[in-house]
Amino acid sequence: MRYVYVHWQHDMPEAPSDLWYEIADDDFQNRTIEFYADGSVGFAIRSAAFDGSEDVEVGGTRNSTEGFPDLAEINSDSQFKASEVAAADFERRWGEALASRFRMTTGLTIAIDGPAGAGKGTLARRLADHYRLNLLDTGLTYRAVAHKLLELGLPLDNVSAAETAARQVDLSNLDRTVLSAHAVGEAASKVAVIPTVRRILVEKQRAFAKAPPGAVLDGRDIGTVVCPDADIKLYVTASAEVRARRRLAEIESMGGSADFATILADIERRDERDMGRASSPLKPAADAHLLDTSEMAIEAAFLAAMAIVDGVLAKRNKA
Ligand code: C5P
Repeated sequence: MRYVYVHWQHDMPEAPSDLWYEIADDDFQNRTIEFYADGSVGFAIRSAAFDGSEDVEVGGTRNSTEGFPDLAEINSDSQFKASEVAAADFERRWGEALASRFRMTTGLTIAIDGPAGAGKGTLARRLADHYRLNLLDTGLTYRAVAHKLLELGLPLDNVSAAETAARQVDLSNLDRTVLSAHAVGEAASKVAVIPTVRRILVEKQRAFAKAPPGAVLDGRDIGTVVCPDADIKLYVTASAEVRARRRLAEIESMGGSADFATILADIERRDERDMGRASSPLKPAADAHLLDTSEMAIEAAFLAAMAIVDGVLAKRNKA
């Protein structure tokens, strides 16, 4: 099954805008699109799912890809009624839509790894929003396990309690406000060295990645272990000093205060633990794109990542 996202920014309240459509693999191979009640949506799906230069059967009507579809070809149930939208106006809107409004995302997985504070969380959120994909910050799953042990007053190396806590992690119910505390992050990197905890959490993360319409996952081992077949792998990094400076600015912007040297030491210690552990250490996958954000604003990193994803999508649409 392929999933096609049709995002249509228009000013016609009656027409669909943000919708996912499914195309069965056979239909994709045969280049046919089942009828979708609204012929214009069928055309939109064709544009999104197939190269615009290809002929594709839409709802049983053969549509030439030359020029715009004739209004008369559009089913009478179409939300684009001639009386509502003048033909020229429709063509203009349709042309604009073809040029920029449709995007195709079919079961896409984007894996983002990197050390704490490199900006991968923000990048993951921006990409998930832009490509309308599910989003999982896998750090929260390790944090949830650590938080549970702290709550129970148990040591962080209590393997059986950590395993139980890992099994109880509910991906749809991760409370970022509680889990984002600095101490929970530190504790998370301690439970994250337990191989069985990793196995339990990785299984949940993989199931999340597989669910339609696709997902962006960020963490430490996404490209190497969780989703080794991800369509796009990004490794986001920045120097420890830059990450410490960002963390300090964040704390100060929330009215807090902290000591730069302490933060830097914390970051370096966490890097060492994450990169040096035996089980799934943090490292770039061989096929990851490296994004060093030391001297790059997050917006620039997002644009760079988007160019990589768009490149992969364009290649897929041609395949
Ligand atoms: O990214 P975040 O700071 O929330 O992660 C907390 C800790 O969880 C990390 O320092 C790391 O030890 C662990 N982690 C991991 N694998 C992941 C995500 C996080 O080991 N995929």
